[in-house]
Amino acid sequence: MEYQDQIIVESIKAEIKELINTAHNHEEKILPKEQNLMQRYFSTLDETQDDEQFQEELYLGHDSDAQGLMALNTSFIDCYEILKQITTINKMRQFTICDIGAGYGKLALTAHFFFSHLKIISIEPVTKRLETLKSIVGIDSIIEDKFRQSHIDLSFKYAFLYFPIGEAFEKILSQLKEKEDLEGLIVIESHGDMFPRLSLESDWLVPEKLCKTAIPRHHDEVRLYKRKISATNKLITFHRLFTHFPYISIRTDKGFWIERTRDIELQYYKENEIFLESKSSKRTTTINLSNIADFSYLEEIDDSVLKLFENRKENLLIKAQRIRRIYKDGSLELSDGTYIYDSGDLKI
Ligand SMILES: C[S@@+](CC[C@H](N)C(=O)[O-])C[C@H]1O[C@@H](n2cnc3c(N)ncnc32)[C@H](O)[C@@H]1O
Repeated sequence: MEYQDQIIVESIKAEIKELINTAHNHEEKILPKEQNLMQRYFSTLDETQDDEQFQEELYLGHDSDAQGLMALNTSFIDCYEILKQITTINKMRQFTICDIGAGYGKLALTAHFFFSHLKIISIEPVTKRLETLKSIVGIDSIIEDKFRQSHIDLSFKYAFLYFPIGEAFEKILSQLKEKEDLEGLIVIESHGDMFPRLSLESDWLVPEKLCKTAIPRHHDEVRLYKRKISATNKLITFHRLFTHFPYISIRTDKGFWIERTRDIELQYYKENEIFLESKSSKRTTTINLSNIADFSYLEEIDDSVLKLFENRKENLLIKAQRIRRIYKDGSLELSDGTYIYDSGDLKI
């Protein structure tokens, strides 16, 4: 089948969309549609693997029958729900998920069609399974291989695992543990032993429910195992982002105060807390690193707000006062502590 043909790609997208819109509690409806779609558009394997040692790990011999296909794959409806929830948790920001043992790459396809802000790296040793994915999304983020040590150096925030536990899994898990920028594992229970196995990792992983699976699994929860972040790691991350971004926005009772990061002195550190002094406004504040909603980093700011930064630098007087704090919406705090709620009205 020629997947370069945009019409076929569009019809796959339309069928996946229809599946996603199917009510969650109708698994009898979802299953036949999923199976039908898989068998029509995804090349399934028909040979069985001689090498018995890898049979279970690679799920070979399962692809050609409908039941096997469902056991091997996460449904599109579940892929959609996982990506929706993880996007919400990350406040719509861009980030990367590595699907370790990607199968037919359904997570990557779902992201490609419906969550274009997300990047999915698909790692899968059974290359034939990746043919549809390759023809639709290209090969940029597809790795035809087993997961290896070198893949740890790829940049991804989460790993997705719907995988049997065993020797391969143990190796992957210990490598992921060493990957310091990894923030969590998104996990579907495979054979009833994965969640119990991961409970032994409580020194670095904390489980929470991400969503429910629509297709019956050994456990109907999809879990997000979040990496525990030590106070030191939080400080290191704060520093990395603070020096990378030109602006920081800090929540105050008057709105979001914006400063250039290069104009800020970090005065001292306490566990979880950072004391900031803005050289331009002479104002200080404390940030608690656990309250991530209280501050965010900005790549750029509106031209109107940028102009206010220049006005402050030039010591422009408003009502005989200097500008102190500048807020994201253009409001100002003046040097006598009074506020101007819409500096646009002043025509400065
Ligand atoms: C249960 S399937 C999950 C497929 C896909 N993630 C999904 O949810 O639809 C597990 C996949 O992992 C692949 N796999 C097995 N060993 C692997 C390894 N060492 N590294 C990467 N993938 C592996 C198998 O070939 C299989 O396609």
